[in-house]
Amino acid sequence: MKITVIGSGYVGLVTGACLADKGFTVVCMDKAQQIVDKINAGTPPIHEKGLEGLLKRIRAAGTLSATTDLAAAIAGAEVIFLAVGTPFDGNEIDLTYVKAAAAEVGRLLHTAGPYPVVTVKSTVVPTTAETVVLPILEKESGLKAGTGFGLCSNPEFLREGSAIDDFMNPDRIIIGGTDPGTLEKIRRVYMWAVCPVVETDPRTAEMIKYTANALLPLMISFSNEIANLATAIGGIDIRDVMKGVHLDYRLNPVVDGKRVNPGILSYLEAGCGFGGSCFPKDVKALAAFAHRKGMGQGILDQITMVNEAQPLKVAGLITNRLGDIKGKNIAVLGLAFKPDTDDTRESPSIPLVRELLRQGARVTAHDPIVSAEFNKYPGCETLAHAPSWREAVRGTEAAVIMTRWEQFREITAPELAALMKQPFLVDTRRMLKKEHFVSIEYAGIGYRPADG
Ligand SMILES: NC(=O)c1ccc[n+]([C@@H]2O[C@H](COP(=O)([O-])OP(=O)(O)OC[C@H]3O[C@@H](n4cnc5c(N)ncnc54)[C@H](O)[C@@H]3O)[C@@H](O)[C@H]2O)c1
Repeated sequence: MKITVIGSGYVGLVTGACLADKGFTVVCMDKAQQIVDKINAGTPPIHEKGLEGLLKRIRAAGTLSATTDLAAAIAGAEVIFLAVGTPFDGNEIDLTYVKAAAAEVGRLLHTAGPYPVVTVKSTVVPTTAETVVLPILEKESGLKAGTGFGLCSNPEFLREGSAIDDFMNPDRIIIGGTDPGTLEKIRRVYMWAVCPVVETDPRTAEMIKYTANALLPLMISFSNEIANLATAIGGIDIRDVMKGVHLDYRLNPVVDGKRVNPGILSYLEAGCGFGGSCFPKDVKALAAFAHRKGMGQGILDQITMVNEAQPLKVAGLITNRLGDIKGKNIAVLGLAFKPDTDDTRESPSIPLVRELLRQGARVTAHDPIVSAEFNKYPGCETLAHAPSWREAVRGTEAAVIMTRWEQFREITAPELAALMKQPFLVDTRRMLKKEHFVSIEYAGIGYRPADG
């Protein structure tokens, strides 16, 4: 079966590469020539664990090719994934790329293989496949859904940093198809997967993806709100609070006589807020969609409100301690939105750096992967970069951990005391034990000593 993927960014390339590894003949199509050239050269256009080896393997096996030529990509294809971007435009989800891709595919659909199934992998708000993609495909192709072609919503749950592993070992496959022929074809695409397969209609599939992508940020914002309350009270450490909460058997069950720590608990931890290419935009798009459906302000709006305030709380921890920070030297440790990626989209470090610079501080950052390219963000142009955390903190009056990079676990109080002008550590990820920093000034999200 020939599978074509339209849009070869994070999701499109990982989907295409993994399905090619499963033996399908896959064509990754993208408008960006440099992406296509890199894929064909076996060079990953993105930073993702295991991608280079996988690309080399499937290029050698001949199961994956990339092209900018849509006609060649569509010819004979039985499954056509749409994996283009769906940004938030400030008011609502921006479907420009999805609509354009649907129209382009529609015009060539008569050249595709028998009963081609157009499968929306991009994250789109509920009903998009049926009310936006389907009419465009029918109009441009002259064919009818259900007889001339199939339509499917097959959302993707991979996480950047472990994308290949997530795709190859999925926790679930959601197939939202309009008709039995569509469901049957997409079932064949995932025949190798050992996990529950949910077969449903497109709008339920779309809703599942958004619900999942709102639930995890909800847990993060909830934890941050509780942490801010603990700070306001004083003498309570959010880490102790969350430890006690996590011990609930329903969150921390006993399996074979032992407590297990489900991964979900990492979302019930306080921090400096969530970022990345999905959570922030998906929560905003869902909230905007809910408003369009007549719902007033609600929890979905609050998730973003709490999240956007959190980096400024970090700035507040610094100014509480240092007062006016004009001309003061401050180190920011971590720029990526999470460890093991070079992705800085919506990273909480952006508003923090911007705020510190705005108040006149001299800010030096260290991130193991990200450096000068970060300065493209408005308000971050004058950020300095250091090759190591030690160099970043040298001569500073505050150092702030913003990304949970493993490298930062080696930070110790004596080294900070030796390197910094005035040793003051802000641990927004609570990755270091505060007991180890009693000899210097320490502040963590969700912790303020009691007033007395
Ligand atoms: N990145 C993630 O972790 C992740 C996880 C799950 C779902 N998603 C969703 O998947 C979708 C894609 O996300 P992404 O991160 O891969 O985006 P991306 O920006 O990395 O990639 C999109 C690609 O599509 C290409 N493109 C745009 N229009 C095109 C067209 N008409 N024809 C051919 N190529 C075209 C662009 O050149 C780009 O390379 C989004 O809806 C996103 O929300 C992303």
